[in-house]
Amino acid sequence: MKIITVNGAELSRSELVAAGELLFLTDEEIYPTAFGTAENMGKVFPYLASIKGNMFEGKNLLVAKADGAIAGVLVGCRNAKWAPGTVEKAFTACGLPVPSGAADAEKHYFCYEAEHESGDYVLCLCVSPLFRRQGIGKILLTNYLSDKTEATLECLRSNPAAMALYEACGFVNIAEYDGYSAPGKPCVAVCKMLYKLQ
Ligand SMILES: CC(C)(COP(=O)(O)OP(=O)(O)OC[C@H]1O[C@@H](n2cnc3c(N)ncnc32)[C@H](O)[C@@H]1OP(=O)(O)O)[C@@H](O)C(=O)NCCC(=O)NCCS
Repeated sequence: MKIITVNGAELSRSELVAAGELLFLTDEEIYPTAFGTAENMGKVFPYLASIKGNMFEGKNLLVAKADGAIAGVLVGCRNAKWAPGTVEKAFTACGLPVPSGAADAEKHYFCYEAEHESGDYVLCLCVSPLFRRQGIGKILLTNYLSDKTEATLECLRSNPAAMALYEACGFVNIAEYDGYSAPGKPCVAVCKMLYKLQ
């Protein structure tokens, strides 16, 4: 299997759709609440990737291709902003109904992240279930960190695979707090993790 990494700005429209569908699997609360279904997230993703300054802007995506297929996506931002109403705009522009939870997920996750994260941070990372445990997550994260001296990310405490990957790449857990959970769902514990070049 030949694995290469490319910047999201180089992806075709259909590859951006595949990247959006994959990122839907990152988290069981945030993306289903904001985007409804993986298919819909894929459809609106090229629009999001085209907005300058948006966290999902193409240049913020680091993508692993395995024999040409989209196998993993990391979204890494620097001081990114999120304009409220962006998800609604994206769905409207694509002629799709806006998911009922979109505004809540935006306010309590995307806007919150944009306000509270500064410097370099990893917003999300997902490897396709077809390609897991083959080193792709580590390739993406190592590649992302290669020109950074410091970076942060958040990880669900209940996600041992991601915690192990982040620790293997040099991140340490520096704080724990309640993360985003969809309306009516119980709170989830999130770890804030910090990477510092030694
Ligand atoms: C977490 C995730 C990105 C890991 O990607 P991956 O490509 O499978 O990980 P890698 O093969 O690069 O694994 C690197 C190291 O991470 C750790 N790791 C990865 N998956 C693991 C698992 N299921 N259980 C325990 N450790 C795991 C191991 O230390 C592994 O090294 P090893 O294979 O030599 O033991 C992937 O499981 C995924 O996409 N999960 C769903 C989305 C998600 O949870 N994203 C993170 C949100 S914070």
